[in-house]
Amino acid sequence: MPSSQAIAILDSGVGGLTVAKEVMRQLPQEQIIYFGDTARTPYGPRSANEIVKFTMEIVDYLLQFQPKLLVIACNTATAVAIDHIRAMVSIPVIGVITPGARAAIKSTRNGIIGVIGTAGTIRSEAYDQALKRISPSIQVYSKACPSFVPLVERGVFYGEETDLAVSEALAGLKETPIDCLILGCTHYPFLSESIHSFMGPDVTLISSADETAREISTVLYHRGQLAESQELPIHRFFCSGDPVMFQRIAQMWLNEHITVTPVVWQVPRFI
Ligand code: DGL
Repeated sequence: MPSSQAIAILDSGVGGLTVAKEVMRQLPQEQIIYFGDTARTPYGPRSANEIVKFTMEIVDYLLQFQPKLLVIACNTATAVAIDHIRAMVSIPVIGVITPGARAAIKSTRNGIIGVIGTAGTIRSEAYDQALKRISPSIQVYSKACPSFVPLVERGVFYGEETDLAVSEALAGLKETPIDCLILGCTHYPFLSESIHSFMGPDVTLISSADETAREISTVLYHRGQLAESQELPIHRFFCSGDPVMFQRIAQMWLNEHITVTPVVWQVPRFI
């Protein structure tokens, strides 16, 4: 049955907005409930246990809205927590790593792919595994870029500081024969101008947002759960940190006015 229930999207901060924007574009009738854990970002340097615990807390919070589908729009959380979350809920759970890997395989011509992500994502080797599961002969060069997420959370998307961080982090990858580069952290598309200008026109940047939105669309279609209302939905945004900064970045990225509800974490339930 067509369903007006929302799609819940979570991330450690503003990064998942890159996925939310693509969901809004591909599925304009769907209502989104977004949670950015900005008080505890970045997740990248944290332990797997901590990331699982935080992700479970966010999902527990989002379940009160009875979403029909959950998107873990965070590579770091997808890499370590998706199986825990699938065991916790009875709705479909979509991560961003398999869609990102699929998009890269579609794009590469020489079979040599670069992956950048947080320390947690790169350590997990989740992209290597996802890419090789689809196409075993793919060659992968990976690099953690821990300086990128704090820049994005401060809203520093362009300029000298960004260009310097990008050139320092990606100098090694530039020497490799990759023909596409997976932005394996949902925060990184905010920096794509600088990354593109450093890597040059021969390296295609791959964001998982597009393919993730397509997967959401396919899953809801097959379950007969696509929304059918003619009215445009009102999306809802929650964050655990500074709502003013979140709103500023979200409005700039989404190009629309939004309201943000701050959430203060109480004593954690999952220890
Ligand atoms: N946006 C997230 C990701 O895709 C997490 C970044 C972080 O909090 O370190 O990995």
